[in-house]
Amino acid sequence: MTVTKAPLEEEVRQTFAREVLEGLKADQKSLPSKYFYNEKGDRLFQQIMEMDEYYLTRSEYEIMKQGRERFLDIFSAKGSFQLIELGPGDGMKTKVLLEHFSKADTDFEYMPLDISGNVLDILVADVNQRYPNLKVKPLCDDYFRALDWLSTHNKGRKVVLFMGGNIGNYEPGAARDFLKEVSRYLVPGDLLVIGFDLKKQPSKILAAYNDRQGITAEFNLNLLDRMNEELGTDFDRNNFIHYPVYNPASGACRSYLVSKEKQHVTFPGEDETIPFDAWEAIYMEVSQKYSLGQIEAMAHELGFAVHEHMFDSQKYFVDSVWEWQ
Ligand code: AVI
Repeated sequence: MTVTKAPLEEEVRQTFAREVLEGLKADQKSLPSKYFYNEKGDRLFQQIMEMDEYYLTRSEYEIMKQGRERFLDIFSAKGSFQLIELGPGDGMKTKVLLEHFSKADTDFEYMPLDISGNVLDILVADVNQRYPNLKVKPLCDDYFRALDWLSTHNKGRKVVLFMGGNIGNYEPGAARDFLKEVSRYLVPGDLLVIGFDLKKQPSKILAAYNDRQGITAEFNLNLLDRMNEELGTDFDRNNFIHYPVYNPASGACRSYLVSKEKQHVTFPGEDETIPFDAWEAIYMEVSQKYSLGQIEAMAHELGFAVHEHMFDSQKYFVDSVWEWQ
C-alpha cells in the first residue's frame, strides 16, 4: 500500500482544538462537520445510511445497479482506465461497479483515496476477498497530494469518482473551488463523476436530516462528546438540541445545535471559556441540494462538458458524468 506518513497524534489534536475554537469564537458559532467522523460517528453515519428517511444512499445504489453497464461503456470508451475514488467510505455502492467491471474482464485499476488508513485497510481487504483478480491500489493521503502523485504515475484515462452526495457538505462556492482544484490534475478526456442530491419536495429533504429515531441528532451531538473526550471540554449534551432547517430557495439544508440555556463551556488545555446565550445556535453542517441547471452551469463554468446524467427511478439523486475539455 502507498502510505504517506500520518501526522502525529498531538499535531492532529492541536489542529482539532484550533479549528473548533476558531468556529466557537466567531460571531456565528460553528463547528466543522468533518469532525463528526470518529469511530462512533462512523457507526452513526452507517446507521443514517440505513434509515428509512435517508433516501440518498438507496438512490445512489440504484443508480449504480441500474447504470453499471452504461458506466462501463462510458469509462472504457477509450480503453483502459484508472478508477480513482475520493473518500470511498465502505465502498458499498462502488462495489456494484467493481463487481460488474471484473466480471466483464475490464482492463482497469481501482484506486481508493482516503486520509484514513483504517478506512482503506478495511475496504481493500474486502475488495481483495470479493474480487481477487482486481487490481487495487489504495492511496492514503490528502486528496490533492494523492492526485498530484497520480498525475505523474498515469496509466490510461482517469475516472475520478466523488460519490455519496459528499459535494453537498461544501458551500456552493467551496464546492466549485474544490472541483476546480481536482480539475488541475486532469487531462482532456478524463472523467469526473459526482453524486449530487437533487432539490425535491422540501419535507422529504428535511425528514432525511430529522429522523424520528434521533440518529442524526446523535450524530451531531457526538461531536460535543468527542471534544469532551479528546480536548477535555465540559459540554453537557443535554443542554443542546439538534435543529435542522431546509431552505428550498437556496437548496441548503443546514443543521444546528441550539443551546437550551445560558451556559459556558471550558477548554482547559487552551485556557478558553466559550459563553452561550439561551437559544444561541452552533451551525454544524450544510447538505446542499442542487437543480440540474445549477449542476450543468457549474460543469461549464469549470471547463467540463456534461457527458451524461445518471438518475435513480425517482430522480431524487444524480451521478453526473463530466468530461474534462
Ligand atoms: C456525508 N454526507 C453526504 C451526509 C449528508 O447527507 O450531508 C452527512 C449527513 N449528515 C447528516 N446526515 C447525513
